[in-house]
Amino acid sequence: CGIVGYVGDKQAANFLLEGLSKLEYRGYDSAGIAVYDGNHIRVEKSVGRLSALRDKIKDDMPKGTMGIGHTRWATHGRPSDRNAHPHTDCTGDFVVVHNGIIENYLALKEELIEKGHVFKSETDTEVVAHLLEEVYNGDFVSSVREVLRRIEGSYSLVFMSKREPDKLICTKQDNPLVIGIGEGENFIASDIPAIISRTRRTYILNDGELAVVTKDAIKITNRRGEPVTKKVFEVNWNAEAAEKGGYEHFMLKEINEQPKAVRDTMSQRIAKDGKSIVMNELKWDADYLNSFNKIYIVACGTAYHAGLVGKFYIEKLARTIVEVDVASEFRYREPIVDENTLFIAVSQSGETSDTLAAMKESKRLGAKTLALTNVVGSSIAREADQVLYTWAGPEIAVASTKAYTTQLILFFMLALYMAQIKKTQTPERIEELIAKLKNIPAQVSETLSDVEPIKTFAKQYGFNEDVFYIGRSLDYDVALEGALKLKEVSYIHAEAYAAGELKHGTLALIVEGVPVIALATQKSVYEKTLSNIKEVKARDAVVIGIAAEGDTELEKYVDHVMKVPETDELLIPLLTVVPLQLLAYYAAITRGCDVDKPRNLAKSVTVE
Ligand code: G6P
Repeated sequence: CGIVGYVGDKQAANFLLEGLSKLEYRGYDSAGIAVYDGNHIRVEKSVGRLSALRDKIKDDMPKGTMGIGHTRWATHGRPSDRNAHPHTDCTGDFVVVHNGIIENYLALKEELIEKGHVFKSETDTEVVAHLLEEVYNGDFVSSVREVLRRIEGSYSLVFMSKREPDKLICTKQDNPLVIGIGEGENFIASDIPAIISRTRRTYILNDGELAVVTKDAIKITNRRGEPVTKKVFEVNWNAEAAEKGGYEHFMLKEINEQPKAVRDTMSQRIAKDGKSIVMNELKWDADYLNSFNKIYIVACGTAYHAGLVGKFYIEKLARTIVEVDVASEFRYREPIVDENTLFIAVSQSGETSDTLAAMKESKRLGAKTLALTNVVGSSIAREADQVLYTWAGPEIAVASTKAYTTQLILFFMLALYMAQIKKTQTPERIEELIAKLKNIPAQVSETLSDVEPIKTFAKQYGFNEDVFYIGRSLDYDVALEGALKLKEVSYIHAEAYAAGELKHGTLALIVEGVPVIALATQKSVYEKTLSNIKEVKARDAVVIGIAAEGDTELEKYVDHVMKVPETDELLIPLLTVVPLQLLAYYAAITRGCDVDKPRNLAKSVTVE
């Protein structure tokens, strides 16, 4: 989502609409603004792109010199006028815009409903406005602090109140927020592009900091309420770089967003005590799980590769038969689907035609359907009986990265959830896996920080004609995704092989100097993978091995090793895929390719 705020002596609506137009790339399913005119706060919102809001108010713009605005990427509640931000309390005196996820909103909502609050939307954000009304003690700042004590999750928030109509209050946790310093006016935005046409002098807020912004002053305090002196950050990016958060490409930005995307996708679905998975969206029971004897996972491209890992998770943890297929094949082979089938469609966009058509066909044959998608209200989400959302935020680069890792997280959690119900794993094992899952965001960050060797490999091997990826078991699934990334963005011919299959044909292609990326993280097949690595080494391939931290064996047999932090071997694909994404990215840079828009490819394929 995108957030803006203005306080000064000019008309707020002008800046709010201009700023939001610069943030539309962050979400575009609905937009809204709230402006204080000296007497009351007028809220205008509209589903659809920002132009729909503009059209709605063009002949009667809200007047006033203070306001807030929002462009939405739906997470809780489908795109609609009512679910668009800003959100207000019952009196309309408090208004809020929010970017992120309030994890405990359901519990808070129940509590507030009991106290007589009436909700107008399905969003987690509206809870914040009502909570502020509930705890308001005559002092805006301390009341906001009380709200912050009660909410859990990730957010950037901007508050405006009729009761103290000279100031905006903003704060953040795990989501970006910047304040633009003007003269006789100040600006707030979730991202720099919104403000750089007005000012280049900014304060970048840190987690837990709270700013009180008036037209002439910006007062920043920390969590304990103590004043914070911040350095002014002069933005010297151009508008294009600003949109990418300072990264050169969306692909790199999105690769680096993975710790947050993964955390957002998992956090609300783990019980407070860390002992079980909670899937409020599904509420399955043993009877439901017994009602189907087979699962089909169907998808295209990267989502299909996530499905392969999903199959592994569900079979291993929940002991249910899973078949995975690419959507364009599945449809045309009279799949054996009936009312005893659970059909799972995986799609970042939720719009891929083949995947949608496969789902419709399965539904017609009587299957129960579940969608794993990143876009709330997308065609596949609407068509499915049930939906699990990846909360990765908008993915812009054609090559999918954060959608893949969040899809893996959802599959892992779904498999654990099924295992819980079917009792195919002990409570101790489930708890142990959840504990390891919780470490994944930090471990992805750690993996991302080790980028220099990858840049070097990309320079060294970026002009090779062919690259091979090998691995067994889950490593093979990740190899497939690594090879696809390289093909998509660098146009290098890349192939992934199940390491054990090499000697049945592909070994003929391995000659001196050919790069082979060998993943060796799965203990049960480790020795066998090592033998395959020795086979390619014997043909003078250059082998880059990928292993877990504690591994001291692999380096004896390969030319270079990249290590990822240690975790359960089921979760390691979330880490091993990261260097492969980075390798593809930097290889594309070495070759001067158009990384975000590779030739001949589209982000969402809506033809069959
Ligand atoms: C296109 C994109 C791929 C994506 C695939 C499936 O081919 O270029 O990156 O994996 O579609 O897209 P979906 O939105 O269904 O996940």
